[in-house]
Amino acid sequence: MKQVRVGIVGMGIGRPNAQAIARDPRGVVAALCDLVPERMDDFAKALPAPVRQFTDYKKLCADPDLDAIFVGTPNQLHVPIALEAVRNGKHVLVTKPLSDSLAAARKLVEAQEAAGVVGMMSLSTRYANNTRYLGALAQKGDLGEVYYARARSVRRAGIPAWNLGFITKGGGAFRDMGVHVLDSAWWLMGLPKPASVVGVAGMKFGQRGQGYWDFTQPPKETWSKFAVDDYGGGFIRFENGAGLQVESFWASHMPGEVQIELFGTEAGATLNPLKLFRTVGGAPQDVTVNLPKGPEPWDNLAGHWLDCILDGVQCEAPLRHGMVVQEMLEALLRSGETGKEVRVKGE
Ligand SMILES: NC(=O)c1ccc[n+]([C@@H]2O[C@H](COP(=O)([O-])OP(=O)(O)OC[C@H]3O[C@@H](n4cnc5c(N)ncnc54)[C@H](O)[C@@H]3O)[C@@H](O)[C@H]2O)c1
Repeated sequence: MKQVRVGIVGMGIGRPNAQAIARDPRGVVAALCDLVPERMDDFAKALPAPVRQFTDYKKLCADPDLDAIFVGTPNQLHVPIALEAVRNGKHVLVTKPLSDSLAAARKLVEAQEAAGVVGMMSLSTRYANNTRYLGALAQKGDLGEVYYARARSVRRAGIPAWNLGFITKGGGAFRDMGVHVLDSAWWLMGLPKPASVVGVAGMKFGQRGQGYWDFTQPPKETWSKFAVDDYGGGFIRFENGAGLQVESFWASHMPGEVQIELFGTEAGATLNPLKLFRTVGGAPQDVTVNLPKGPEPWDNLAGHWLDCILDGVQCEAPLRHGMVVQEMLEALLRSGETGKEVRVKGE
């Protein structure tokens, strides 16, 4: 059987991604890379086969034994590492968000497409079973035209501060969590081309040392560096006339929630709980869908990445999608700073 030998960079979100790759008989986790050797030692014990270890991603990316690289470092390092990988002819799987800026995202997508390697986004919300179920219905046309959507990720006390990448330049609530619901809602709507964005964003908790993960305040020397949005919300207008309201809160005085609501001409739907709303014979018909426990999102997406690499299947979550999502989210943040509507190209 043909196999793909993968190097994993970053021992945080790298772990579930690597485990899913290793669970697939076509994937081999052959090397790990992190600045902290103890994290690699610890994770290596959970893998089925021995791995080599690197602390320098450039050496990892140049290793001829590897076919592909997973990138799971803080946001601002995604593009430098993925660029190094594609320039060495490796396929890449990159965690969200693709980048910390549109310019960097675009540079990577151009290099990846020119190199002819597979470049895919690792998107745990888009690849969750409930999102995939709704996506299949939408693609079959069961919802009709999806002309409006609302998407939100709300936390009560969920500012991550375990690495400074989250709370300093390049991080923020919208790049961290808004990106998940924005990407999934956009995909469920059929990937319409965005035209313009208006939004607000700011910091209301983090710079006061409040709203941190599980109500646990990190040391002041950490939270005093907080310099990003801990909330953002806005509206995206698409060229086909559809609209998307999107919100992300790392901290708030509201109950936690991740939700996507779709308004279609034939049916409406919510993601959490998974429900469909129709009118049948002039009367409302609401259906709650109880999905059997299926595979983990990581298994769904790792399997597709391996399909693309080994069998030439067209990638359904290419880096280019990550770039368009990056354009929308950076436009929302810029609109918050400038108070103006921002035009976007969506390509
Ligand atoms: N559901 C999801 O898809 C999901 C969930 C969590 C995090 N993420 C993403 O994963 C990324 C990392 O977040 P995390 O929670 O895993 O953080 P983390 O701090 O737990 O892990 C990041 C790891 O990267 C390592 N690292 C940093 N710089 C490096 C370098 N130059 N070379 C090699 N390794 C380096 C760190 O030592 C650390 O072990 C973020 O971009 C985040 O948005 C995605």
